[in-house]
Parts: sequence; structure tokens; C-alpha cells
Amino acid sequence: MALAQLPDYPWDLMVPYVERARAHDGGIVDLSIGSPVDPTPELIRAALAEATDAHAYPQTIGTPALREAIVDWFARRRGVDDLTPANVLPTIGSKELVAWLPFMLGLGEGDVVVQPRAAYPTYAIGASIAGATSFASDDPAEWPDETKLVWLNSPGNPDGRVLDVSELRAAVARARELGAVIASDECYAELGWDGRWADERVPSILDPRVIEGNRHNVLAVYSLSKQSNLAGYRAAFVAGCRTVIDKLVTVRKHAGLMLPAPLQAAMVAALGDDAHVAAQRELYRQRRAVLKPALEAAGFRIDHSEAGLYLWVTEGRDAWETVGRFADRGIVVGPGVFYGDSYPQHVRLSLTATDERIAEAVVRLEKFGDSL
Ligand SMILES: Cc1ncc(COP(=O)(O)O)c(C=O)c1O
Repeated sequence: MALAQLPDYPWDLMVPYVERARAHDGGIVDLSIGSPVDPTPELIRAALAEATDAHAYPQTIGTPALREAIVDWFARRRGVDDLTPANVLPTIGSKELVAWLPFMLGLGEGDVVVQPRAAYPTYAIGASIAGATSFASDDPAEWPDETKLVWLNSPGNPDGRVLDVSELRAAVARARELGAVIASDECYAELGWDGRWADERVPSILDPRVIEGNRHNVLAVYSLSKQSNLAGYRAAFVAGCRTVIDKLVTVRKHAGLMLPAPLQAAMVAALGDDAHVAAQRELYRQRRAVLKPALEAAGFRIDHSEAGLYLWVTEGRDAWETVGRFADRGIVVGPGVFYGDSYPQHVRLSLTATDERIAEAVVRLEKFGDSL
């Protein structure tokens, strides 16, 4: 498989809509990409600044302090208390891991990578890079015999769907039957909003109720980009099955995929502090609390979105038409077609805009139905 066969980068298609939105009186409200807008917390920046003497090569597997911090974080925040430092590995953000995992696992032609029906596009890109085939299905019974890797994403991007313990158990059981690795991308886990997820922890695939003491071929992927406003740092990690982690460590050592030492120190600070995560969550909760009813009042149906950083909505029109209608009102949103073929009439709105921009979006939504 030649890399030349990769599709064009989808967000490039948004340029004309961004230009249209920019022309709006009162400026653009960009709710398309989930890139954090709030500052990186001071304690993390201070830890980074403290660690700038980095004359030696960093450790691919992470410093002992970082590996311990990840283990402690899983026990404290994710209810996973049986990991050891050998079960965890820092990554340079999680997008690179998502994109390269199929290749690093040795997948190739004839192998299938399963992903959710509404999915972060990099799962399919990762399958393409390895020459494997991606298959979109949320029903474990449909997953084909050739499946070698299953991606779950809970809470989901773009749809905010949460998989509960029984759904995670069913997915793990089917992956075991197929002999496949199963990886759950959990980067929005701190952002539960509605129903039971308002108070209950969104479960990890490594939760003891899911794996029942057997984490063979099971991985959880997490990123600090959103919970800690660290997207620019590239700070993430993967945890779980020791055999798979060892395999990844070997490839990554040979390939030079290591997290810079100052970033490792910054991650230790971020993982050790829950207060900044709670404060950031509160900002997103408030933004969501004003944007969601404004969308509903403007005639949009909101699907799932019970957790995570996005609102996944439809007005029953073609997604590009809805993107255009938003752009005419100075608001940029992402079309559902960026997330697979299953949702041609949905668009995704991100909560990553300032309070002032979200308030402006609400004002414009009040007049959404008016002709321009
Ligand atoms: C589901 C999902 N996985 C992974 C990522 C990548 O995050 P990062 O590379 O910043 O860690 C994102 C980013 O938006 C995402 O939505």
C-alpha cells in the first residue's frame, strides 16, 4: 500500500465555509475543530519550564515518575487499580498511536480494522497506512472473521455516545473470539454530562468489571490534550496488555518515537492534579448548557452527546447544506460525512470556543430560521 493512496485531508474542504463565516458581522464563531481555547494550567507550564535541561535522550517507555503517575491516575480517575508501570507507555499525543497502531501490530492486506459507525477519521487512516481494510460497525456480531484490531471510542467523537460496562464486555468477548486486539480511545472520559454519566464515571475498557482480570490484547488510549488544555504539548498514553505494550515499545525504540523529556515532566504534573481538570470540565459544562438548548430551539435534533466535547446534531438536511447555513450565520461546524458514511445529515459542534464566542453563537441561533 502506497501512502499516495491516502485521501485528501478532509478539513481542507472547509476553507470556503470558513471564509464565508469570516465575512459575517461580529466575526467568525468556529465550532468545527475540537482544539482547546483555554490556557494551559500554570502548574503544568511551571513543570515544563523546570525541565528544560534535557541534555540526555528521553526514555521511550517514559521516566519512572511518569509511568507511576499514569498508573496512579488510572487507579484514581478510571477505577483501574491493577496496572503496573510495565502496562503503560507515553505517546506523542494519541493521534500518532491511532494512525500507526495497525502498522505497529504488523497488520496488512486482508486484515480488518473495526471502527465505530460514527468515527474519528484517523482509525480508518491507520488501517490504510497498514494496507488493511476498515469496517464500520457498532455491533460485535457483525465484526468479520478477518478482524485483527477493534477500535472503540467512548465517549465518542463525534457523537458523544458512551459504552457502558455490559457493552464493553460484549465487545471484549467478541474481540477475544476473533483473536483481535481491542483498543478503546477514551480521551473524553472526564466529560460525562447527561443521565447516569452526570454522576457516574464513564467506564474504561480496563475496568475490572469489563476485563475480569484478563487484559490480554486489551488497550486503553488516553490523551491530556482536552482534559488539561495540552493539545500543543502532544501528551498522551496507552495502557493495558503487557505483551502488546512490549511490542509497541520495541517498534517505538527502533523508530525514535519518544516523548521529549520536558513533556514527560509536564505530564507528571498534569496527571497528579485533579483540580484543573474539574475546573476545565466546569467551563465545558457551562458552554454546553447554553449551546444545547439554543440548538434545540433552532430546530436541531441532538443525538447521543451525553458525554464528550461535541454536540452531534441534525436538522434533517444534507450535512453540507447545514454547514453552509451555519457558515452564512458566521458559524463553522463540521459535516457528519467527515466521520464515515453512516450520518450524511449530521453536523458536529465543538464546545471548544470561548464563553464570548459561544454566547455569540447562541444569539445567532435565535435567528437561525430567519431568511438571510
Ligand atoms: C477520539 C479522538 N482520539 C484521539 C484524538 C487525538 O488527540 P491527541 O492527538 O491530541 O492526543 C482525538 C482528537 O480530537 C479524538 O477526538
